[in-house]
This record gives sequence, C-alpha cells and structure tokens, in this order.
Amino acid sequence: MFITFEGIEGTGKSTQCKLLKEYLESRGMEVLLTCEPGGSRIGAELRKMLLSTDNRDLTSLTELFLYLADRAQHISEIVRPALEEGKAVICDRFADSTVVYQGYGRGLDTKMLHHLNEVAVDGTWPELTLLLDLDVETGLKRAMTRNIQKGMTQKEGRFEAEHVSFHNRIREGYLTWAAVNQKRFKVADASGTPEQVFEQIKHFIEQRFFEENK
Ligand code: TMP
Repeated sequence: MFITFEGIEGTGKSTQCKLLKEYLESRGMEVLLTCEPGGSRIGAELRKMLLSTDNRDLTSLTELFLYLADRAQHISEIVRPALEEGKAVICDRFADSTVVYQGYGRGLDTKMLHHLNEVAVDGTWPELTLLLDLDVETGLKRAMTRNIQKGMTQKEGRFEAEHVSFHNRIREGYLTWAAVNQKRFKVADASGTPEQVFEQIKHFIEQRFFEENK
C-alpha cells in the first residue's frame, strides 16, 4: 500500500500523515512514514539546498533536477524496499508536487514533468494520493506560525517567501491535476480541525483499500 499526501503550504499534511500511520498500525499494518524532499540520506542534503533562502539563484531547471534526483534516490533506497517487505508507505509529498510546483508554479511544461517523473519513479506510483485543499491565506498563516515555532524562518523558507499569486497557482494547479488524475486522487477539505480532516481521510482509505476488497 503506497499513499501520498499533497497540498499547498500549511494544509496539515504532516499531522494527517501521522494520524494515518497510527490508524493503519491500529489495523495491524507495518507502516513507513517518509517525505520528499529529504526522505533518504542523500535526499536530506538535497533538501537543504532546495529549501535554503540562500539559494534564491537556483534556476527552475536546476531545481527540477534536484527534486528528481531526490525522488530517484528515495524510491530505490527507501520506498520500494519497504513496499517489497509488505509495509504500507505513507509519503508527505511526491511526484505530483513536481508537476504542480515546477509546472503550474514555475511554468515548466507539465507533460515533460510527468514524463521525467516516470523516469524517476521507475514504475512505483502511489495507489492513492490525498490532496488537502485549503485557501492560500489560511495555509500561509498556518505555515508561518509553524516555521516560527520551529525557528526556521531564515533557512527553510524559500517557498513560503514566494508571492501569494504563486501559491494561488499552486492551489489551482493541484485541483486541475487532481481532476486529470481522478482515479488516483481524492480531495479533502483541509479547513477544519485535524480530527475533522482525518475523518475524510479515513473514509477515503476505507473506501479504497478495505471496502473494495470485501
Ligand atoms: P515541505 O517538506 O515543508 O512540504 O516543503 C517542501 C517544499 O518543496 C514545498 O514548498 C514544495 C516544494 N516541492 C517542489 O517544489 N517540488 C517537489 O517535487 C517537491 C517534492 C516539493
């Protein structure tokens, strides 16, 4: 079972990932919770480069290839082995982030991005992608509060520092991409409390993995 979470900044992806991990474990599954960028040792190095506010001079293409490098390493070293061991894998962001951020956000061609993702994931696609949808203003406010709490405003804020219009393109891009990939995507309203959001997630998980198999 391979499940990914997507959404703009501040939608509560990390919280929902943890709640889902606990839920699947309560159903007797072994679960690996991981993330992109930064889910492998090499990926952690790439993550620092990608998100540092010192690196505002990264070109869109350089940024793209670093995300793809992170993904290729992560899939072969972490995700695929865990799936082969029979674990459920939950990943906080995955290939769709590239189509949406580098495509709808930075303006690179989405077809080309999808093709490069296919090369990077080498056949390992999630069975379900949960998009947490939230208005940009609320998301950015939540993300800023979280960053201040973590004391990371200076070093890991390259995307949060983008203009609101960028984040609006990301939100719209996600909704468009989810509609194109309806079979894999489910969209949850992320404006409620973590418990309210998780009720929706649980419903999608039950529907996709447990009810269909009855
Ligand atoms: P996060 O780990 O806090 O979600 O931050 C990762 C940032 O990287 C987020 O702003 C989205 C961005 N990103 C891309 O632009 N492309 C990608 O392929 C991925 C995985 C993330």
